[in-house]
Amino acid sequence: MPYQPTSNRYSAGMEYSLCGKSGLKLPKISLGLWHNFGFVDEFKQSESMVHYAFDSGITCFDLANNYGPPPGSAEENFGKILKNSLHAYRDELIVTTKAGHQMWEGPYGDGSSRKSLICSLNQSLKRLQLDYVDIFYSHRYDGITPIEETMQALSDIVRSGKALYVGLSKYPPALAAKGYQLLAAQGTPCLIQQDRYNLLSRKVEHGVLETARLHGVGFCAFSPLAQGLLSDRYLNGIPEASRMAKNGFLKKETLTAELLGALVQLNNVAAERGESLAQMALSWILHDERVTTVIMGASSIDQLADNLGALKAPGFTDEELSNIRTIVERLPE
Ligand SMILES: NC(=O)c1ccc[n+]([C@@H]2O[C@H](COP(=O)([O-])OP(=O)(O)OC[C@H]3O[C@@H](n4cnc5c(N)ncnc54)[C@H](OP(=O)(O)O)[C@@H]3O)[C@@H](O)[C@H]2O)c1
Repeated sequence: MPYQPTSNRYSAGMEYSLCGKSGLKLPKISLGLWHNFGFVDEFKQSESMVHYAFDSGITCFDLANNYGPPPGSAEENFGKILKNSLHAYRDELIVTTKAGHQMWEGPYGDGSSRKSLICSLNQSLKRLQLDYVDIFYSHRYDGITPIEETMQALSDIVRSGKALYVGLSKYPPALAAKGYQLLAAQGTPCLIQQDRYNLLSRKVEHGVLETARLHGVGFCAFSPLAQGLLSDRYLNGIPEASRMAKNGFLKKETLTAELLGALVQLNNVAAERGESLAQMALSWILHDERVTTVIMGASSIDQLADNLGALKAPGFTDEELSNIRTIVERLPE
């Protein structure tokens, strides 16, 4: 049977909020395709996760030129899924991609020059089989390209119609502020800032979140579960199929006895609230009104279902928030 989206996908409990001072609404939970959507993964499984997400009201799918592995294959797979089953729903989707990290050989396959960004987006559109993406990000500040050049390229990309909006990822606050000003002056305001934010990584609380808010820019949190640490995944050892066991992005050395102790304590707080640790970790990020969306990753539909339960989470009491802070602030960030 060909996939048919459920008719009640917008009454399934997803909430949408305006992204910064723009008119664009994003779902509180988005799906990221960094892992589990490449050629090394089972295509049917990736496809069913995208379908499940769309049926649950997730409209925003986060990609980058280099997601896979191999690099580019997540975009290619997502393009195939779109073409096969979601083509008719393109106007209900926010598809994002990024450029800025190493992608192809030679001097132009990396960084944030005009040449790299424009060539990379052209490649992404081919892999995605799309005419435009909804949000195009500068994936990082490369430390070399003048920020004026990068922002001009982003602005020109919007004017060319190949992206509807632009965003910045991992820009330190002072550079982000300069980028926001340059983009606004060009009439293509920055839509969103994307950065790591989770209970174990709270650096954005020291400038990034507030700078975005002051400039009317939305914020999306990536790796909200610290790549799976903030769930029950590693509470009883390292499962064979887990990210920690499979690839080098989540190192085994990260899971110290001290961290494990804190995860157990957090899990207890979550249990007292009647939720899973993953649900509490997501709702903790979302309780900050400066956060527009969290981009979760997942390797199964069960994980997606668990994480979406965060939308039903009870509010936090001051005591719970203080207990959680006490647990995580003892750890080195
Ligand atoms: N801008 C950037 O530079 C940047 C950087 C990183 C990420 N991102 C974006 O953010 C997205 C999310 O990043 P992430 O994948 O690191 O997110 P994450 O949500 O912190 O971690 C996802 C991983 O956690 C585990 N997990 C998820 N839900 C679970 C649950 N309910 N119970 C147990 N385990 C669970 C799964 O690991 P297993 O595979 O072990 O099952 C899953 O692959 C990426 O896909 C990408 O779109 C952007």
